[in-house]
Amino acid sequence: MQNTINKPQQITFDITDRCQMKCVTCNKWKISAGDVISKELTTDEWKKVLSDLRNWLGEGFWFCFSGGEPFLRQDIFELAEYAHSLGIKVASMTNGFSISHLYKKIVESPIESLNFSLNSITNPVIHDTSRGREGSFEKLLDAIMQIKKLKDEKHSNIGLNIATILFPENIDEAIPLVEFVTRNKLNGIMFQLLDDAESFQAYCVRTSSKTSTYTMPKELRLKYKTMAKRAVEVIDRLIEMKQAGHSIYNSLEQLEAMKIFFNNPDDILKSITCDVGSTNYAIDPYGDVRLCFNMDAVGNIRENKPEEIWENAKSVECRQLTKSCKMYCRMLNCNFKHNFANFNKSFLERCSNKLNKILCGLK
Ligand SMILES: C[S@@+](CC[C@H](N)C(=O)[O-])C[C@H]1O[C@@H](n2cnc3c(N)ncnc32)[C@H](O)[C@@H]1O
Ligand code: SF4
Ligand code: SF4
Repeated sequence: MQNTINKPQQITFDITDRCQMKCVTCNKWKISAGDVISKELTTDEWKKVLSDLRNWLGEGFWFCFSGGEPFLRQDIFELAEYAHSLGIKVASMTNGFSISHLYKKIVESPIESLNFSLNSITNPVIHDTSRGREGSFEKLLDAIMQIKKLKDEKHSNIGLNIATILFPENIDEAIPLVEFVTRNKLNGIMFQLLDDAESFQAYCVRTSSKTSTYTMPKELRLKYKTMAKRAVEVIDRLIEMKQAGHSIYNSLEQLEAMKIFFNNPDDILKSITCDVGSTNYAIDPYGDVRLCFNMDAVGNIRENKPEEIWENAKSVECRQLTKSCKMYCRMLNCNFKHNFANFNKSFLERCSNKLNKILCGLK
């Protein structure tokens, strides 16, 4: 029988595991670069992936460079140019730590959406502590302001966005961050719930999590409990700000779901089924493809065409597993939007409609 699965909508190129930060929320930095660099896909291999994806998906789809820190790959601009020549739209995440020599190049490149990971604005220590490196706030803020200035001077269309994880220490930064985005005429901000750090592992060392029997670690549950009351107040204010025209990318429905989550994670989780199996396509630095970033790879792009992997038996099995998954990352943006791939309007609308149905009891 014909497989009727739709084509993926959130495509991520995790082009390197390497990273200069030491984030407390993410374990990707706990690797030795020397061990992995020679195993990464080469420039030509990534170009072949792009051209195979173009043949399969047609023009106009988005993908997002992530990692690790994507700007540690010297060939990121060559890959962006190549993607652009094929009619593919390019987004990228960045921690902004070591891109000061690249500001002009970024603004002149075909990257259409640049997403800065910023966890505080009134208090640099909060950001620096979360990123494990003193001075990271200052460098990131410089990157945001200088790139915005160049964007305006050159009348560039590059979208400049902020991506913020919400955790107990920064919950009171959420509103000032939205005000910062509005005041500086950035394109928008996307909030993300704090995921279990075990999910954010370098692909070269990771073992797959026990997604079918997962229970949230006690400390994490406690963290959510500690911030719950304040988080609900802050999210209520974010909803008002979004309704008043501030550019907050999370849909109203997702913000409402976050409130339910903070009140009692189990209440919302029982009504949400993870959709990543039919939307996500993430390629790691070594060519392994995952539909869910916590599960085993379903194929390797060095060995098979992207569409063969999407339709193979492992992908079918993975989709089954995602439907009964017990992990709470189904509350995260990757299940609503993207991974930060593309703060892409049509995708957000689609997700918003989906959650709307869930919250209204239609699903
Ligand atoms: C893994 S990073 C890779 C790209 C780049 N290094 C950066 O930090 O922007 C992608 C995003 O995941 C976020 N992130 C890291 N740890 C997280 C966690 N435990 N829960 C949710 N998001 C997390 C980061 O803040 C960043 O916005
Ligand atoms: S979140 Fe990004 S910057 Fe932080 S360690 Fe992970 S990959 Fe590096
Ligand atoms: S909730 Fe979704 S993204 Fe998270 S582990 Fe389960 S299937 Fe994967």
